[in-house]
Amino acid sequence: MTAAAQVAAHRQRGVAPDQAAWMPLFPTLWPSMMRSAARAAGLPFPLTDPDRREFTFARYGIYAIARALGLQGREVLFPAFFHCVELDALFSAGARIALYPIGADLQLDPQAIADRIGPRTAALYVIHYAGFPAPIRALRALCRERGLALIEDCAHALLSTADGEPLGSFGDAAVFSLPKSLPTPDGGIAVLRAGWSNGARGHSQPKASWLTAHTVSLLLANLQMRHLPAAAEVRAVALRMGKAAYSATGAAYVPMGTPDFDLTQADTTMSALSRRILMTQDFPAIAARRRRNYRYLLEQLEGVAPPIIPALPAGVCPLFYPFRVEHRDAVLARLQARAVPVGEFWPDRHPLTPDPEFPSVNELRRTALWLPCHQDLTPNALEWLALQVRQAVQGEPA
Ligand SMILES: Cc1ncc(COP(=O)(O)O)c(C=O)c1O
Repeated sequence: MTAAAQVAAHRQRGVAPDQAAWMPLFPTLWPSMMRSAARAAGLPFPLTDPDRREFTFARYGIYAIARALGLQGREVLFPAFFHCVELDALFSAGARIALYPIGADLQLDPQAIADRIGPRTAALYVIHYAGFPAPIRALRALCRERGLALIEDCAHALLSTADGEPLGSFGDAAVFSLPKSLPTPDGGIAVLRAGWSNGARGHSQPKASWLTAHTVSLLLANLQMRHLPAAAEVRAVALRMGKAAYSATGAAYVPMGTPDFDLTQADTTMSALSRRILMTQDFPAIAARRRRNYRYLLEQLEGVAPPIIPALPAGVCPLFYPFRVEHRDAVLARLQARAVPVGEFWPDRHPLTPDPEFPSVNELRRTALWLPCHQDLTPNALEWLALQVRQAVQGEPA
């Protein structure tokens, strides 16, 4: 059965696609997920891995990995297409960065990496973009042959596998960012195969006020998504009150997705609340939902907004649907006017990536957007989403 047929078969009766209301960019927190739950089925990799350490955010795990691998003053080969905070984490740990190219199709060439290995190179950093695997076996072989540590950035790749093995299990180290895939207010997991010394353990708890604000926001997003009466108004008021409360205490309000690396937070661990929420998640269902949703978008949008990565290989749990459009700003404005949830795929040019050296990365930063395909999106919502994107890309005003 095609994804379109599956979606049609699941469509709830009585709700037309154009009636879809507010749609969240990230998964929301269902009230039932706050209960304490004993699990019959085990948690997936890396959530119980003995070589893991837990942090508030992945960025602090990257910092801890770099310190533990002794990368201070040493060179790390790093992809020229990046978010920024992962790079800040390495800089803060004292690593030197040398970039390698990424194609406008998000692919990398192991030979281009091999050509850049020099006497000071100590590690290779690889990002599995949107949950799609880099050629990780070839890269692991290269790292073994040349004596480099391999660090897998799985911030987008929780639950994704390559050849049946979880991403993050190939390298000497890996890092995961839970709130991108799951409705947890925080959570970064770092895995280090050689084991951690005690000093690398994250131990202080995130601030209770911050945690409460994010948790309430995730819960209200859930109510708003489900059209519960007044949820949108309550959420808007709660967000305003939260920000006002922060500025009254002089503390910085930290929104989700903040780009900042804050060294004073480097040893904060994942909250107990996020651990509790993890216990309630149906991980196989999440992966299946995300794949179904991605396939649906692929089928519906291939002709107008084709995905950057053309196929969905077995075992991939996609974080989002990345696509490129020539007139991105105009399309983005039209999508936003229609209240379509859409993300910009790292548009900010970085001084480390000068024009002539990485033209395909400049191309990506100029044209790439992403759509959600997460587990909360219902067949109705997806149908509405695809329709809006088709119209916006074809230039129809809202
Ligand atoms: C590729 C990549 N790595 C690492 C991170 C950092 O994750 P966190 O926000 O959990 O620190 C991000 C965040 O957007 C990212 O996109």
